[in-house]
Amino acid sequence: MSKFDLTGRKALVTGGARGLGAGMAAAISKAGAAMMIGDILTDVCRETAKTIAADGGKTAFVTLDVTDDASWQAAVSATIAELGGFDILVNNAGVEITSLVINVEAPDLRRMWDVNVVGTALGMKHAFRAMKPDGPAGKGGAVVNISSVAATIAFPGIAGYSATKSGVDRLTRVGAMESGKLGYGVRVNCIYPGLVPTDMGVQLAGDVVAAGLFPSAEAAIGGVIGQTPLARLGEVADMADARFITGAGLPVDGGMGM
Ligand SMILES: NC(=O)c1ccc[n+]([C@@H]2O[C@H](COP(=O)([O-])OP(=O)(O)OC[C@H]3O[C@@H](n4cnc5c(N)ncnc54)[C@H](O)[C@@H]3O)[C@@H](O)[C@H]2O)c1
Repeated sequence: MSKFDLTGRKALVTGGARGLGAGMAAAISKAGAAMMIGDILTDVCRETAKTIAADGGKTAFVTLDVTDDASWQAAVSATIAELGGFDILVNNAGVEITSLVINVEAPDLRRMWDVNVVGTALGMKHAFRAMKPDGPAGKGGAVVNISSVAATIAFPGIAGYSATKSGVDRLTRVGAMESGKLGYGVRVNCIYPGLVPTDMGVQLAGDVVAAGLFPSAEAAIGGVIGQTPLARLGEVADMADARFITGAGLPVDGGMGM
């Protein structure tokens, strides 16, 4: 049996309609888990679910706005009802709005905070409530939050976004601490993807040009690649694979060193 065999597991991926979320949903499904795809883009969700089902996966989709508590409640209930449980949450939904610090707009900052930080915190809340031993799913599980390389480096034009992704990093650690100490049985981790040319990644490359930081999108991408020892952009499939991981120290210490 593969160590990555997820047969029998029930997963919800937020922002799963497209991009990294759709890629992770397909990979988790391929590993054997039943998959609920949650997103505000209901029609795109439906198509993504169809593709996963055509590949042999058990899947369903639900309209989920991660900024809304009631929407989470409904999505988790639908996951448990339709998949027969809930033990993996990928908190992937996110937005990026590029701006130089000198030009930031409060509504843009609030939007990124709402989706990236509030959305992730609400996801952990509802996952903990459902997965803990006396919850309606009740078997513990795993939460994976999607932070960003933006939380670990300083790249111009993404100060607000970087702040929210640093927030995701901290949410992960405090969530992991509480879950461990309070016996929820849920492990909480986060990953930090590099630049991947999804809708968001491509838009970002254009927006840093518009902000006057690079002469062209090609130059912006070249700048990112120049800062990357593996000398390429990320790919969606890298999120379910070790091939774009290098230079990382991964503690296997029950969270002691976090
Ligand atoms: N693409 C990159 O280079 C990159 C790098 C690092 C981290 N990330 C992070 O990875 C995650 C996925 O990014 P992506 O590149 O696939 O972006 P994307 O824009 O292609 O997809 C994001 C998805 O999130 C959904 N979404 C947005 N707001 C939502 C809400 N309120 N409720 C539910 N769903 C919502 C969108 O509809 C979309 O399907 C994000 O958290 C992003 O910040 C992306």
